[in-house]
Amino acid sequence: MRLLPSKKVAGEIAVPPDKSISHRALMMCSMCSGVSVVHNLLESKDTLRTFRIISELGGGFNGDFDRLEISQASWKESSEPLYCGNSGTTARLMAGVLAGKRGTHILFGDESLSARPMRRVIAPLKEMGARISARQEDSLLPMCIAGGELNGCDHSLSVASAQVKSAILLAGIQAEGVTTVTEPHCSRDHTERLLQSMGARISVNEKRVEVERSELLPIRFSIPGDISSAAFLIALAVLHENGKLTIRNVGLNGGRTGFLRLLISMGADIELEVEESSPEPVGTIVARPSRLRGVKVGSALIPSMIDELPLIALAGAFAEGTTTVRGAGELRKKESDRISVTVQNFRRIGVEIHEYEDGFSIEGPQRIMGGKVDSYGDHRIAMLFSIAGLLSEKGVEITNTEAVGVSFPGFFETLEEVCR
Ligand code: S3P
Repeated sequence: MRLLPSKKVAGEIAVPPDKSISHRALMMCSMCSGVSVVHNLLESKDTLRTFRIISELGGGFNGDFDRLEISQASWKESSEPLYCGNSGTTARLMAGVLAGKRGTHILFGDESLSARPMRRVIAPLKEMGARISARQEDSLLPMCIAGGELNGCDHSLSVASAQVKSAILLAGIQAEGVTTVTEPHCSRDHTERLLQSMGARISVNEKRVEVERSELLPIRFSIPGDISSAAFLIALAVLHENGKLTIRNVGLNGGRTGFLRLLISMGADIELEVEESSPEPVGTIVARPSRLRGVKVGSALIPSMIDELPLIALAGAFAEGTTTVRGAGELRKKESDRISVTVQNFRRIGVEIHEYEDGFSIEGPQRIMGGKVDSYGDHRIAMLFSIAGLLSEKGVEITNTEAVGVSFPGFFETLEEVCR
């Protein structure tokens, strides 16, 4: 796919529903007795993995992703290994769910997911009493889970991770006694919010979350647009010299808006308005062209912008001065090694960027000349360099763009709608 420079960016759009919340809604509503009604679920490659796995385990779904009735799954033993595709959220959170269910299940993934760390979720679940084994001394998929009776645990994460925290909490609501998770920095709290709304026994004290065995109650709610998908369009409007975009009905959970706050601190003209806030804050974002200053990002800010960090390199290329991201080693463990592929691809399109083990730095302003890049099958890298192409002098050609369907089906159609 070749993305050519665009003259103007304008429009009022909606982005696809939030991926993180959609996975959680599918899993957690399948764990409660009674019928939940969820509107506006994301229908993407990743969330369909979760949907199909729960269906295989006796899930009760009625309707479509615009309005889905979800009843308690029977949680029968699966007859085949359960395929998580590219989806880390499916593999890690399902491990937590299945740890508390009777039966033996195998979770496996595609090549990228098979190389991503799983010990961080397997170790605490084993400590709670689940019998789990996985490749390479319990560190990589496939993993085999024999679930059943669990006991609470007190677990401190060495790296903030909403996926690991959520896996432990979803096991914790099925365990005897109290389960506590503490993180070094706060990660996204969608699981905690849904647990609260579904009547779970949960208390949250900043970086420490405590749950007890709970019967979840059905819920009715609508999932907002995904701020991580919106981030690409916001960056486009801010960095384009002739751009204005309004994005409606987007999730504005503080654990996810770090990138917006960072852009604003760099000088971006972005307005946020929260219109509704239960169980998740939802609102409108208006983004306009802006002159940016370089910025330094350290480890405390990383979890609130984890999926947007490669976009900071793009903003840094346009900003006056130096932009540095450090303490972001986790980026190497995402769908691709996002530090290495971001740096390699920027160099291929004529942008100078320095690579650190745990981040990158970039001197701006620089012009993006254009050239050929590879998405390495990573949805967020495909979208980042598509935006870079629209902002470039000569255009950017990207291979493997179908990866965008992992989180943002219709991404290229949305670009066509807003670019003139
Ligand atoms: C997610 C959490 C993040 C994020 C991922 C989705 C989630 O991962 O990168 O895209 O839904 O909980 P970690 O919290 O493991 O860093």
